[in-house]
Amino acid sequence: MTAEMNSFLTAELAADFKQFLATDYGLHLYAHQEHRFKQAIYKTCQAFAEIAPGQLLAKLKADPLCPERRLLLQHITVDESYFFRDENQHDFLKNDFLPRLIAQKRAQSDKHIRIWSAGCATGQEIYSIAILLQELLSDFSSWQLHLIASDINHHSLQRAMKGEYSQWEIRSNNDLISNSSYFTALENGRYQLNEALKKQVKFFFLNLAEDIFPSLMNQTCHLDLILCRNVFIYLQPQIVEQTCARFAQALRPGGLLLLSATDPLNLSTPLLIAKQHKDVFYFERLDEHAGFNSATDNHLALESPVILPAAEQPPPLSPQNRQIADFSVARSNILASLANNQWQEVLALSEQALINNPANPDLAQFKAKALVNLGLLDQAKIACEESIKLNDLDPHSYLLYGLILLQLNLYDEAEKAFRQTIFLNYDFMEAHYQLGQVLLYKGQQKQAIKAIKNALHLAEQGDKQRPVHNVITLTYSGFAEAIKNELSVLGVKQ
Ligand SMILES: C[S@@+](CC[C@H](N)C(=O)[O-])C[C@H]1O[C@@H](n2cnc3c(N)ncnc32)[C@H](O)[C@@H]1O
Repeated sequence: MTAEMNSFLTAELAADFKQFLATDYGLHLYAHQEHRFKQAIYKTCQAFAEIAPGQLLAKLKADPLCPERRLLLQHITVDESYFFRDENQHDFLKNDFLPRLIAQKRAQSDKHIRIWSAGCATGQEIYSIAILLQELLSDFSSWQLHLIASDINHHSLQRAMKGEYSQWEIRSNNDLISNSSYFTALENGRYQLNEALKKQVKFFFLNLAEDIFPSLMNQTCHLDLILCRNVFIYLQPQIVEQTCARFAQALRPGGLLLLSATDPLNLSTPLLIAKQHKDVFYFERLDEHAGFNSATDNHLALESPVILPAAEQPPPLSPQNRQIADFSVARSNILASLANNQWQEVLALSEQALINNPANPDLAQFKAKALVNLGLLDQAKIACEESIKLNDLDPHSYLLYGLILLQLNLYDEAEKAFRQTIFLNYDFMEAHYQLGQVLLYKGQQKQAIKAIKNALHLAEQGDKQRPVHNVITLTYSGFAEAIKNELSVLGVKQ
């Protein structure tokens, strides 16, 4: 097969394939991966009625969701992973970072922990974290854990969701595995991760090379910890830089990015500070607003109105019109900060504007959006309830309310909020999608798929260039693609 494999791909076509993988997924293929690369193309061609490699490439480029892409990614990505990989890093998490984080949260009466495994492969990394947290939290059930994990390999994600592993994949010599009730031995010699632990984690398709995070829509915001280990070795250097800049935005100030021991340490992301604990290197997200008080800081006060020369002064406004003018200045300032994900500014500006316009539902909604993006979930919930009280007919408030409740793991209430959004506007694509997410978390797979398919239908019917709510960089057509990927991971044939 090797001779056949080597001859079926011309050097020119090989270069085109590499270019395609670099552009769409940021993948960088080194010389030692040449065999894997050719084998992946060869196997994909074989699996689809032995099409020629040139035809395969044309198909891949024409259809971002074709099954050929899924199979090629499955063959080309390296999804090697195991429980408690890298003992030093796990010791650091278990004995230093997580206890510190837990103590800090307890001191603030904040029982939320938010962790993302980016490039999670078959899930061992995030499940190891779930096990650690269960061990460290004596009052585990009273915490709201937000453990998310993503990858581009559909097959790996499906395996991760199943949570069934071979002895080799659990190979770590860790007490937490050998003496624990976290796994049940199956008759086929494999091990099944316990249902309760599996339920703690949400898996989803996310291509790190795409500009779709941080975002409330995929819940990749205000994280305490991002693990992205053994992923960057496969990516182009400029994609690594871009990804780290987005990771910095996705972390809360003081949050940590943990790469693998072999990953680059010379990142040029100003918000990420390299730090070391014994043999472990990590990055901490800088708090650029340290000491900042949102309600009083002068440099964030609304711009004073421009004073025009006497001759050009417009006639004075009535108090009512003055209020409208103030509100529209505030609104445009808020929207500008919002477009740049400057959540502290959005919070300060909306709080300031609310002083003169306390009954304005939009301002309360902006405030809620800022608070949730800053990870202040309980306060965000209150602000959003205020916005709904001021206008109970705005579907956007209910969508935001549902997203906040989802982050709080309040699934029944979140479902109600998304259904209310749809009741007020049936065509609200994002609400159908989020309703699908919440039903998935509730284990109602059939209804979830129906809701996600409704979202897909609306995304395909809508204006392709229309931006998705809460993900300014994503358009309806891009979202339709993401939804199709998700349906495929859920095993839905399209
Ligand atoms: C070797 S595994 C790492 C698994 C786990 N993080 C660990 O350290 O055990 C690398 C994973 O990165 C994923 N990956 C590669 N390129 C990616 C991209 N552009 N976006 C998201 N994941 C990607 C691969 O699919 C693969 O599952």
